[in-house]
Amino acid sequence: MRKIVILLLAAVCTQSVNSQSVPSIVGAGKTVDPYKYSIVKKAEFSKAAVSCAHPLASEIGAAMMKKGGNAFDASIAMQLALAVVYPGAGNIGGGGFLLARKSNGELIGIDYREAAPSKASRDMYLDKNGNVQMALSQTGHLASGIPGTIAGLFATLDYAKLPFKQLIQPAIDLAEKGFVISEREAAGLNSTRESFIKYSTRPTAFVKENKWKAGDTLVQKELAATLKRVQKEGAKGFYEGETAKLIVEEMQRGNGIITLDDLKDYTAKLRSPLEFDYRGHHIISFAPPSSGGVLIAQMLKMIEKYPVGSYGFQTVKSVQLMIEAERRAYADRAEHMGDPDFYNVPVKTLIDETYLAKRMSDYTPDKAGSSTSVKAGVIKESEETTHISIMDEDGNMVSVTYTLNGGYGSRTVVGGAGFILNNEMDDFSVKPGAPNMYGAVGGEANSIQPGKRMLSSMVPTLILKNNKPYVVVGTPGGTTIPTSVYQAIVNIIDFSMNADDAINKPKFHHQWLPDEVMVEKDFDADVKKQLQAMGYKISERAAIGRTEAIRILPNGKRETAADKRGDDSVAGY
Ligand code: GLY
Repeated sequence: MRKIVILLLAAVCTQSVNSQSVPSIVGAGKTVDPYKYSIVKKAEFSKAAVSCAHPLASEIGAAMMKKGGNAFDASIAMQLALAVVYPGAGNIGGGGFLLARKSNGELIGIDYREAAPSKASRDMYLDKNGNVQMALSQTGHLASGIPGTIAGLFATLDYAKLPFKQLIQPAIDLAEKGFVISEREAAGLNSTRESFIKYSTRPTAFVKENKWKAGDTLVQKELAATLKRVQKEGAKGFYEGETAKLIVEEMQRGNGIITLDDLKDYTAKLRSPLEFDYRGHHIISFAPPSSGGVLIAQMLKMIEKYPVGSYGFQTVKSVQLMIEAERRAYADRAEHMGDPDFYNVPVKTLIDETYLAKRMSDYTPDKAGSSTSVKAGVIKESEETTHISIMDEDGNMVSVTYTLNGGYGSRTVVGGAGFILNNEMDDFSVKPGAPNMYGAVGGEANSIQPGKRMLSSMVPTLILKNNKPYVVVGTPGGTTIPTSVYQAIVNIIDFSMNADDAINKPKFHHQWLPDEVMVEKDFDADVKKQLQAMGYKISERAAIGRTEAIRILPNGKRETAADKRGDDSVAGY
C-alpha cells in the first residue's frame, strides 16, 4: 500500500491490555488490527481510496480493492463492517441509497430505503384526539420500517467482483472477536444505555454493567451469528428463516407490526439517478424517494446566475444568497416530495430553470426572507446516518449513504439476532404540518401508506468535470444532508477548495421551517452579527453533517478527506 501523503494522524485507539491474540481481519496487503487502529483524516492515494465514519471499515474497504475487488466490493464490505463497528448508524436493520458511476459511464442508483410495514396506516402515530405521539415513531418497535440494507448489498453484488462470503468475513470476525471502541463510541453507548434497556426485550451487547470507556472491547456474538446466516444463505439468511423469525418474535414481544411476509416481500429498487449541470460540471445525484438530489439541484440552480465565487467564501453576501435558496428548496420539499411509486413527484418542474428563477424573484439582498411569505411553489410537488465515498483503480465511483435514522435507531435490538432496528417511520409525515425529529414538516406526498418508502434527505452524489470522474461526496445529518452536500459542492466549484477544506469549513443550514439559520459553533461571528442585523434568527449547534469526499486531481491522484466532526477516517493505496 503506497500512501503518498498522510498529513494528519488525528488519533490512535489502542487496547494494550487485551490478552487475546490479534485476529487478522483481512489478509492481503495489510492486516487490520481491531485492537489498535489510527484515524487518518486526509491523504492522497494513487489508485484507490475510501472515506467513511470508522477507520476499521475504511481499512477493510481499501483491503478488498487491493485483493482484486472494485468499489462495489468495497462498499459491501464497508457497510457490513460499519454495521459492527459503528452501531449508531452503520446497520443491517436500516436502509440506504447507493449511487455509482462505472468506469464505462453507466450510472446505477440502488434504493434500499426501508418501507412501511403492511399493517402501517396513515394515522398510526396519532392518539384518539388526533395528537401526534412522537415517541412511537421515534423509539421502540413501532418506529421501524422494513429493513432494506441486506437487500441493497445483494443488489450491489451484481456489480462486484469478489464472492460475498469474502466480503462479509471481516464483519463476522469483528462481531465475534470484538474490536476496541473509541471515546466517542463509549459516550454514545453510555448515553443510549437506558433506551436500549427500555426498548429492547432481551439483553443486548450494547449494555454493559458498568459504563463503557475508550479502549473497551465490544463483542457482538448474536450479530456474528446473524451475519453468518447471511453468509451461508444470502439475502434469505436475513429476510427468511431464523433471522426473520427473530425479528418477528421481537415485534410480537414489543407490539411492533413487521411480519414475516413484510420481510419476505421486501426488494431493493433500481432508480435512475438525477442529473444536472452546475457551472460546467455535471452533477449526478439521487432521485426520490430521496429529497436530496432535487434539493441540491434546486439550490445550486437558484444561485448559479449569481457570481458566488466573487462574493467570497462565507461573506455575508454569499451566505445570505445560499440561505435564501435553502429556504425556498425546503419549502418545496415539505409540499411536493415523497415516494415516487405512491406520489407523483414533479421532479422536472421542481428543477426547471424558469421555475427556479421565479422562486428567487422575491429574493432581496440585505434583508431576511420570511418563511411565512415564502411558501412551496405552485405546481400543477441525532441525526445519525453515515456515508461512504469510494473511488477504485478502474475509475468506478461509488457513493453510499445508509442509516438507522436517529443515533442507534429505534433503540430496539432484535433479541437473539443482535442488531438495532431503524426508527425510520419518523421520516414520514405522521400528520400534515407536524414536525418530525429534524423539525421537518410534510403533507400528503409523504403520508404513511403500507409498502411506501418514507422521504429521505440522504443524497449520495458524484461530480464529473469534462465528463470525467471528479468528486465523490455525501454525508449524514438528517435534513442538513442536502445543505451540507450543497455547501461542499459550492466550496469546491465556486471557492476552489480542496476536499478537506470543502467538508471541514463551518456550515450553516436553513430548512424553511423553523424559520431560523442554524450555524456551527466555529461559524464567523461577524457574519453572524450582520445576518442578525438583516433580520435572521440564528441558532448555534455543535455539528452539521459528517461529510466524506474524494476529489480526483489533474494528475489522477485521489485527494481523500474524512470529516473532522467524528472518528471518520480515510484509507487507500
Ligand atoms: N433518516 C434520515 C434520512 O433519510 O433523511
